[in-house]
Amino acid sequence: MKKNIPGGFDRREFLKGSAAIAGATAVGTLAPFGLARAQGAKLRVGLMLPYTGTYTPLGVAITNGFKLAVEERGGKLGGREIEYFVVDDESNPAKAPENTNKLIQRDKVDVLIGTVHSGVAMGMAKIVRETGILWINPNAGADEVTGPLCAPNIFRTSFSNWQTTHALGKVLKAKGHKTAVFITWKYAAGEQMMQGFKEGFEKEGGKLVKELYTPFPQVEFQALLTEIANIKPDAVVAFFAGGGAAKFLKDYQAAGLKGKIPLYGSGFLTDGVLDAVGDAAEGVETTLHYADGLDVKKDRAFRLAYAKTYKLQPDVYAVQGYDAGQLLATGLDAVKGDISKKADMIKAMEAARIDSPRGQWTLSKAHNPVQDMYLRKVVGKENKVQGVAWKALADPARGCKA
Ligand code: BEZ
Repeated sequence: MKKNIPGGFDRREFLKGSAAIAGATAVGTLAPFGLARAQGAKLRVGLMLPYTGTYTPLGVAITNGFKLAVEERGGKLGGREIEYFVVDDESNPAKAPENTNKLIQRDKVDVLIGTVHSGVAMGMAKIVRETGILWINPNAGADEVTGPLCAPNIFRTSFSNWQTTHALGKVLKAKGHKTAVFITWKYAAGEQMMQGFKEGFEKEGGKLVKELYTPFPQVEFQALLTEIANIKPDAVVAFFAGGGAAKFLKDYQAAGLKGKIPLYGSGFLTDGVLDAVGDAAEGVETTLHYADGLDVKKDRAFRLAYAKTYKLQPDVYAVQGYDAGQLLATGLDAVKGDISKKADMIKAMEAARIDSPRGQWTLSKAHNPVQDMYLRKVVGKENKVQGVAWKALADPARGCKA
């Protein structure tokens, strides 16, 4: 990342941010990243996540994971107690600027944690870049966030959308599939996961014969499933998540396609939904940066602690939230909780090797995880690890001027 001014910010971006900050502080509304509040005061953490709608379970799991990381540190990060400020973003991109501003201007948070939906993340990104507030994104995969919109104060502990499907090209090739249909919601996450798959599959000589879309968050799949039955591809690849994924898996089975045309996906298709779908997901293979049955010491400890605390099994979203807490802890420990020392804090976060339940990972120059992508298969109620589909996969970070 560019470090041509003290504090580690790109000069042009910093000046833009300063102008926004000067305007806002003049009316007494903004306490941005870098304007120190008393170091002994509680650290104000803003959680902007979906707590209503189809992505509710994802928002809840991220929250649980983040809070577990904090509780494991005695309820403090960098020696400071935490005060939470929570906004339900409803997975609604149109409300993203207003919701982001609620946390930054009204609640004066020191750090922003969010969100799940790529479209909402795009709305947050503009404001985050202007204000310079520290932002840790624990899910939303919008490629742009660690691409053309990358910035010193923007970090992600999850994935880029491209990353989650790219390895599927190799997987399908190894199974002898030559043609595939991709089906998803019509918004950035679905379109970018389709693109990541297409690139990987075509490199392996495969052909994506059709892209099928339905608007987010609709779950009327019947007409699209009939189209798939008529096309008869070798394989179907899907991105849906949360309640939409559960409905899709059940409809795929009810349409008689299960067992006829093998179904694959980014792992969101089967993560956190297996209790809700009976045997509709049995045998479905997916790629993701987390799986059940990993031989990772940290994962065993994490699962025990999560189950004990929440009486629930964790999923990938819980892991990403937990790692957001771990990454923030790394930065705050380096500056002993003094978040105004932003350059030192960013430097420590950039250099972090996160001991994650998914296995260790580091950050790319664009601040996106470089991580193993696992091949998983649904066996009973588990996304059982089958092996590593792509070792240390890094997002290409196209357009990031880091
Ligand atoms: C996204 O919108 O980026 C997204 C949402 C749920 C799961 C994965 C990605």
